[in-house]
Amino acid sequence: MCGIVGYIGNRSCIDIIYKGLQRLEYRGYDSAGIAVLKNNEISMVKSEGKLAKLEASLSKLPQDASRGIGHTRWATHGIPDTINAHPHVDGSVALVHNGIIENYLELKSQLQKEGVKFVSQTDTEVALQMFIKLYKQHKDPSKTIFALVKVLKGAFSLGILLADHPDELFVVKYGSPLVIGRGQGENFFASDAMALVGHTSKFCFLNDKEIARITPNEIEIWNFAGESLPLQFTEVNISSASTEKQGFRHYMLKEIHEQPRVMSSMIKRFVNADAGTLNIADMGLDKLDLKRINNIHMVACGTAYYSAVAAKYMIEPAAGIPVNVELASEFRYRSPWLNRDSLVIAVSQSGETADTLACVKHAKDAGAQIFSICNVQMSSIPRASHATLYMEAGPEIGVASTKAFTGMLLAHYLVGLAMGVRRNRVSSDELKRALNDLRNLPALVEHAVDSKADVEKVCAKYYESTNFIYMGRGTSFPIALEGALKLKEISYIHAEGYAGGELKHGPIALIDRHMPVVALCPRDNQYEKMVSNIEEVKARQGRVIAVGAADDEALKVIGHDYLVFPEIANPALQAIISVVPLQLLSYYIAVMRGTDVDQPRNLAKSVTVE
Ligand code: G6P
Repeated sequence: MCGIVGYIGNRSCIDIIYKGLQRLEYRGYDSAGIAVLKNNEISMVKSEGKLAKLEASLSKLPQDASRGIGHTRWATHGIPDTINAHPHVDGSVALVHNGIIENYLELKSQLQKEGVKFVSQTDTEVALQMFIKLYKQHKDPSKTIFALVKVLKGAFSLGILLADHPDELFVVKYGSPLVIGRGQGENFFASDAMALVGHTSKFCFLNDKEIARITPNEIEIWNFAGESLPLQFTEVNISSASTEKQGFRHYMLKEIHEQPRVMSSMIKRFVNADAGTLNIADMGLDKLDLKRINNIHMVACGTAYYSAVAAKYMIEPAAGIPVNVELASEFRYRSPWLNRDSLVIAVSQSGETADTLACVKHAKDAGAQIFSICNVQMSSIPRASHATLYMEAGPEIGVASTKAFTGMLLAHYLVGLAMGVRRNRVSSDELKRALNDLRNLPALVEHAVDSKADVEKVCAKYYESTNFIYMGRGTSFPIALEGALKLKEISYIHAEGYAGGELKHGPIALIDRHMPVVALCPRDNQYEKMVSNIEEVKARQGRVIAVGAADDEALKVIGHDYLVFPEIANPALQAIISVVPLQLLSYYIAVMRGTDVDQPRNLAKSVTVE
């Protein structure tokens, strides 16, 4: 939530910062702003709404300024207008912030009593004014920051530009992500390495409670106690092509199309098809003591959480260990039962979700082993885990997650099998059969994507509906949850996912002729039950969009409309395939409703505040 970026060097910084903010816009798009320094003077432009609205004002900045900071906002405190937009500037200090200053009201009233006048409603301005007050006492920027971090509570990654220290930028990392990029005669900082694509591949990922001073040629880091820390750089290569739309109208559509490639590259990395074995070490699992584990907790938020609901069906039977799946925001506050024999699996595309990260830290303190399944390399959750499986799905930029979701499902399937192998519960024959099922997976996913024109036709009938119900049983239940979430996120239609068996326990009261019901019906062991559920919906005049196999003639005639998925006699892999038509359904409905598919209102891709 909120993206920050900064540059100091010998080039004009405006374009570098603006393009960096474009790559960080997935973190929030309520307002944006850039402050630059030239001849010991700070100039600033800000605007409410998306970053593109700022572009027209960039010409007002001194074009050859070579130091600056920028911000793209997801509003927490104060409405998304220009006044509340960052950077916040007072005289010779400009500051950008990602996070929440939880004690801002107390600090604000203290500062107001001392005569400070506030112009915005933000918590960030309190950090700025507190910095200014402390700067008057300490005179030195780093000493001021050491004092500042003692009074701020909450989560705060800060970037600070000072007119009287033109050759330095200062950053603080606490709670929200921050990375420093090293160039030649120039240095950068950003909320995410992706912001700096094309400028550097050398990154220093700051840890919590660290402060850095950045000049064009130097980087110094201290902890909050003022002790100097060694610099550690990691090489991360992100291709700029992977961050572009490549001819697709939306990132979401591009990412839906990338799923077969994600599947095949994960299979290539983790499966030794000829030998019929898994590359368990490459999955990170060899770093864990798998034999010791007798309870597993999976924690995640949003789409990652729904992937974990599906994981229970895959990991629990294969590993022979009870799996508790929980929302990270609940788990972190409920004192869960954890000990040395617990394994906590944190699932997160971004690797930065604040609640999931908090669970990881809590579970680690309780002595549990921590495994994470993530996409973004070197993000905070993998760095806090004992071992990580990276999906390597490439940057996912559409706010609604698609390829990361199917990547997570495949990871769960493979992790379940690997645990089963290590715990001697899955025989080599069973493993061979399970891996054999994977051979066709990328092609079947591709086939599902190819049915997009048929999905689009069905969408034309339903895009004006105001409510939807999704239902499925077994591994199709989490897919129903995810399908409903996709529709909510990008089309703003109210949608709920239910297990087919739950429909009679309340939701059926909602059914009338205006209610479309999307029913997932692979021919698995609960197929007949699903068919009965469809009949119950039809009896109440609900509009049924059945989703099933191309040759399921019986199902075709039961529903009002029919979406096809390729069928596979493996429930875990069927879930991966079944979600594709639902992704396309939400995509085309959103396009027909004219919503902003890649940047839906009020959402952000990476939620780094509670
Ligand atoms: C946000 C995003 C969702 C995502 C969730 C968890 O809400 O909008 O798409 O599923 O965060 O994100 P993570 O990065 O932890 O998977």
